[in-house]
Amino acid sequence: MSSADKIWRARASEAVIQSNPVITQAFLECQRSPDVRKTHLFEGRYENIYLNEQHIPQLTTLMKEAVAQAEDILSSKNLNTGNLSVGYWFNYMPPGSTTTSHTHDDDDELLSGVYYLYVPEDSGNLIINLKDEDIEITPQAGDFIFFDADARHEVSRNNSELHRLSIGMNFGIRRS
Ligand SMILES: [Fe+2]
Repeated sequence: MSSADKIWRARASEAVIQSNPVITQAFLECQRSPDVRKTHLFEGRYENIYLNEQHIPQLTTLMKEAVAQAEDILSSKNLNTGNLSVGYWFNYMPPGSTTTSHTHDDDDELLSGVYYLYVPEDSGNLIINLKDEDIEITPQAGDFIFFDADARHEVSRNNSELHRLSIGMNFGIRRS
């Protein structure tokens, strides 16, 4: 894992990367189902679409790797990760769409992340604001990017003619 000033970037295992097309296809088939929860309606698009391991079993291995990475990062900050809470959602960006600026620290979140399933060329960059400096990242499919939950971030316009698909995630310490 590489880290630079509160942004951590890591590659998923080959096994997870090879499951990207299966997960992407399953997402496209499931997302229209009326019982799938969708939130954050901006500019006619739901930014968060909630599908889980019951819908797509391949998410289990992917999220295990995400949790292991998050545990490493949080442990490096001397946080006890024995009771980690995890939430995740799909972010589907059709051509022409953006994800507006926001943070993920609404509740007890400590760390946020993204996993990239399908990233066509010129389909938008992740822009993370750190101390009034914008860090712009061009991700690739198979990348994990992690950042502090209170870091403001957005995704620039998808200028390609294809959809882009990622999974956003939050990690916190469960209050029991
Ligand atoms: Fe986000």
